[in-house]
Amino acid sequence: MPPERDTEREKRAAAEASALLVEDGMTVGLGTGSTVAFLLAPLAARGLSIRCVATSPATERAARELGLRVESFDDLDRLDIAIDGADQVAADGWLVKGGGGAHVREKIVAAAADRFVVIVDSGKPVAKLSPPVSLELSSFGLPSTLRALADVELRDAPPSPDGGVIADYLAPFTAPEALAARLAAAPGVVGHGLFPPEMVGEVLVGRGSEAQALELTG
Ligand code: 5RP
Repeated sequence: MPPERDTEREKRAAAEASALLVEDGMTVGLGTGSTVAFLLAPLAARGLSIRCVATSPATERAARELGLRVESFDDLDRLDIAIDGADQVAADGWLVKGGGGAHVREKIVAAAADRFVVIVDSGKPVAKLSPPVSLELSSFGLPSTLRALADVELRDAPPSPDGGVIADYLAPFTAPEALAARLAAAPGVVGHGLFPPEMVGEVLVGRGSEAQALELTG
């Protein structure tokens, strides 16, 4: 039997490698989730003068506790770098994100960054993306949105900080681009967890105690 994969160690390795990409004076987007949680301490320990934006109240709290300067995203209109986890990474660079329900803020932050760095353990790269795909839905007219989309299940999760209802799209799909376009065009969908390759600068994968850059084919 192969040795058991140490997921926490892999997350830490990817997160620590990404912390080294941040330079003094940068504006930095901080993602959400257990992998990003491993980023905050090494980043704070570098003692850089940086301004951060957080994608969730949980990340904001944790970052502030470590002494990182977290600002409102009302005060910055671009970021030098954003670092975040993912639930699935396809070889062509498409991502599924939003396991923590923060995908709308995460996408806004990733899109605002010159460089978006994805940090994952070795269980996240997949041959093909599969459901669930996270959704944030408007509470107004929710039943009609659910009826129109079909194959959506509401998640047992609190609303997003922006008041959106968190749900999952569950139907199998083959073309992420087509599904992303369909979800983006659906009235009532605030945002979805499919992130296109154009948004992704690089993916750092923890393998054992090392971080390796994933070669993207897209
Ligand atoms: C939160 C996210 C996370 O980045 C994603 O779910 C991965 O989480 P983790 O690092 O805990 O595996 O998109 O909305």
